[in-house]
Amino acid sequence: MAKPLNILFVASEIYPIAKTGGVADVAYGLPLALRDLDHDVRVMLPKYGAISERKNRIHEINRLKDIPIDVGPVREFATVKSSSIVNTRTKVQAYMTTNRPYFDSKWGLYSDPETGVEYADNDERFIFFARSVIQTCLLLGWIPQVVHVNDWHTALVAAYMRTIYADKFKNTKIVFTIHNISNQGVFPFKETFIKTGLPESCAEDAKHKTKFNFMKLGLMYADHITTVSKTYGEELMSDAKLTDGLNTIIKKRKDVFTPIINGIDTTIWTPEKDKLIPKRYTLDSLDKKEANKEALVEKFDLKFNAETPVIAMISRLVEQKGLGLLKQAAEKLFKEDVQLVVLGEGDKDIEEWLKETAKKHPNKMSVKIGFDENLSHLLEAGADMYLMPSLFEPCGLNQLYSFAYGTVPIARATGGLIDTVKEYDTKTKRGNGFVFEEYKAADMLEAIKRALTVFQDKEQWTNLVKNGMAEDHSWNNSSLKYEEVYRKILQSVTGK
Ligand code: ADP
Ligand code: GLC
Repeated sequence: MAKPLNILFVASEIYPIAKTGGVADVAYGLPLALRDLDHDVRVMLPKYGAISERKNRIHEINRLKDIPIDVGPVREFATVKSSSIVNTRTKVQAYMTTNRPYFDSKWGLYSDPETGVEYADNDERFIFFARSVIQTCLLLGWIPQVVHVNDWHTALVAAYMRTIYADKFKNTKIVFTIHNISNQGVFPFKETFIKTGLPESCAEDAKHKTKFNFMKLGLMYADHITTVSKTYGEELMSDAKLTDGLNTIIKKRKDVFTPIINGIDTTIWTPEKDKLIPKRYTLDSLDKKEANKEALVEKFDLKFNAETPVIAMISRLVEQKGLGLLKQAAEKLFKEDVQLVVLGEGDKDIEEWLKETAKKHPNKMSVKIGFDENLSHLLEAGADMYLMPSLFEPCGLNQLYSFAYGTVPIARATGGLIDTVKEYDTKTKRGNGFVFEEYKAADMLEAIKRALTVFQDKEQWTNLVKNGMAEDHSWNNSSLKYEEVYRKILQSVTGK
C-alpha cells in the first residue's frame, strides 16, 4: 500500500465552524474522506467573531501564541488555536487563526452582516491569514507534502510558499481549487501588493487588468489546479466573461488542470440518519417523507395539502443563483397549484422582493431570511421539488442533497448542474430531474410545468424520485480522484 500523505487543507470557511455556502461543506467532507483513506489531514481557517470557542471546543496551543505577522507597515499578531471537525466515522485536526482587528472583532466572514457591505480590509485579512498558515507549519515543524488551497481567500499561501518561503516548502506540492471564479479578490494594485510583502518578481503574476488579483496568484503558483465539475472546467477555459479574462491563464495551465465533481458527506446528508428532520426515511419508506412535508409547510405558515407540490430553494441571495428568473416568472408560477418556500440571505434588494412577493401570495409562497443550517435539512426533506435556476453554477450541492432526500431538482443547464441533473423521460423512465437550457423565465416555467405534470402521475413520480435517491454522490469516488492528483504531483519530489 502506498504511504499515507501529510495534507494541509486551507479554506476560508469550514462546516460546521463557519459557513456561508458550499465551500464550507467541501472543506468539511473532503478532508474527512481523505482521513478515511488514512492520510494525515489537517485543516486551517480564520476564527471569525461569530465562532463560539465553547461550542467548537477551541483550545490554545502553547507554541502558536502571539506570532508576529507583518501586513505592509503594520505588525499584527496571530494566535493560532486548535479545534477539530468530526463526523460519525472520523476526526480531523483544525487550526484557527485568531486576531482581534481582522477576525475576532468582525462577526461576518467577508462582509458586515448588518449592512451586507464587504469589509474594507479584506485584502489585509486574507494576507494575514495566508501568512499565519505559513507560520503555523514552520512553528509546528510540520511541513505538509500537499497544501490544498481553495478560492481567492487562501490563494496567497501558494505565492508565499513559492517565493519568500521557497526553501522551507521545496518538497511541498500545492493544489489550488477554483470553487467560484466570480470572486477573485480584486484590490487596488499598488496598495495591496505592498501589504503582501511579496518580492517585486511577483508583481506581474499578481496583476490582472491593472488590479491586484488574489486568484491569479493561486493560478500562477499552484502545482496543480482543480475545479468542482467537468463542465465548469470547460467554461473556465473558454469563457472570458465568466472568468473576467483569467480563462487564458487557466487554458495555458490545462496540462495541470483537473475537474473533480464535489461529493456530499453522507453522515450529515442522509434522510435515513438525519437527526434534524422530524421523520427519517429511506428509498423503501418514502411514505414517511410526507410527515416532513407537513412539518415544513407548517413551519413556513402555509396550508398543508399533500397533493400540492412544494418547491424549495435554499440559497445565497445573489445574481448567480438565478433569482432574477424567479422574479420574472413569479406571477405566472403562482397561477399553478404549487407552494414555494425559500430560505436565504444576501442581497438586500432580493431579500425585500422575496418578502414582498410572499406577502402578496400568502397561500403560495413563504420566505425565511437568514442562515439556518437546521432548517435547510427540513427543506430538503420536506419539499417535493428543488429549484436551482442558476445563471452559472460551478458545482452546486443542493441538487446533490436533493437527490439524497428524494426531492426532485429543477435546474438550469450550466456548470455542475449539467453534469448531475438529467431530464426525466417518462418513456424510458430514466433521468433524475428537470432541466432548462436558456437563462429565460419562460423556459424555467416550462421545466417547472413538466415537473408538475409528472408529479400528477404517482407511479412515474416515485420512479423519478427513486432514480435520484439510488445515485451515489458520496465523497467515496471524488476523494480518490484528489488522492490521485496529490500522488501524481508528488512523483516529481525526490525520494517519494
Ligand atoms: P454556493 O456555494 O454557491 O452557495 P452550493 O450549492 O455549493 O452553492 O452550496 C450551498 C450550501 O449552503 C448548501 O449546503 C446550502 O444548503 C447552504 N445554504 C445556502 N444558503 C443557506 C441558508 N440561508 N441557510 C442555510 N443553509 C444555506
Ligand atoms: C462555490 C460554487 C458552488 C460549489 C461550491 C463548492 O460556492 O458557487 O457551485 O458547489 O463552491 O465547491
